[in-house]
Amino acid sequence: MPHSARIYDYLLGGKDNFAADRAAAASIVEASPSLPVSMRANRRYVLRAARYLAEERGIRQFLDIGTGIPTSPNLHEVVQQVAPQSRVVYVDNDPIVLLHARALLTTVLEGATAYIDADLRNVRAILSADELTGTLDLTQPVAVSLIAIVQFVVDEDEVHRIIDALMAPLPAGSALAISTVTAHNPQAVGAAQEYTARGIPAKARTDDEVRALFRGLDLLEPGVTLVHRWRPDDEDAAVDDTHVQMSGGVAIKTG
Ligand SMILES: C[S@@+](CC[C@H](N)C(=O)[O-])C[C@H]1O[C@@H](n2cnc3c(N)ncnc32)[C@H](O)[C@@H]1O
Repeated sequence: MPHSARIYDYLLGGKDNFAADRAAAASIVEASPSLPVSMRANRRYVLRAARYLAEERGIRQFLDIGTGIPTSPNLHEVVQQVAPQSRVVYVDNDPIVLLHARALLTTVLEGATAYIDADLRNVRAILSADELTGTLDLTQPVAVSLIAIVQFVVDEDEVHRIIDALMAPLPAGSALAISTVTAHNPQAVGAAQEYTARGIPAKARTDDEVRALFRGLDLLEPGVTLVHRWRPDDEDAAVDDTHVQMSGGVAIKTG
């Protein structure tokens, strides 16, 4: 069976994929030729958002769920450049990602990283895992990132329940960064349909639906946008809107 992490790895140019993943990737790209450009823009977005949260918001703890097969640089490398004491917990449910998790655990001495093999749908298992409680102090702000994962939770009530459960125990000053497949790009809608047809249910969301994922939190400027338009650098400013299939935003918990 194809798996989303290995399809993604293949589309980013990685080697950790099988024939079924490559066949799925080929039909997804046929339906959606700009997907590889979009995925790279999405990768740059998560790293920009993490750097922003470390530099401008002083966050030193990160919980990244749906991490994927490691690519360089990984989130902890970026935030530990800003503050070496940063602590990062990665979560994914794919056994292939687990196999490669060691590459995510290359922390600098002052900081820490950990990996949890768990499902986003089981928030309690994530928050109570020894790897999490031994790495993060939940009385201090945590930046949660859900990057290119919530399109795989297709039910709105369920995705809201998951996000509420994740954010509820975290203190004020915590953050949530999301990117997900946008319903405003026909190729993105096609890609979601292809994933679904391949046995991986996926959903494209409107900007209103993405904004709703941040309920109860303060969405930062520029709000929900295509990912390359979120505080873009020069490389992102040059990317064509029609090639980007992901929208997202970053919010802070104030209450
Ligand atoms: C498209 S990749 C995104 C990787 C990375 N976040 C990025 O954007 O560069 C989606 C990842 O989410 C993981 N994933 C999908 N559903 C999940 C679930 N229910 N629980 C945990 N991980 C999940 C997949 O295994 C895959 O690694």
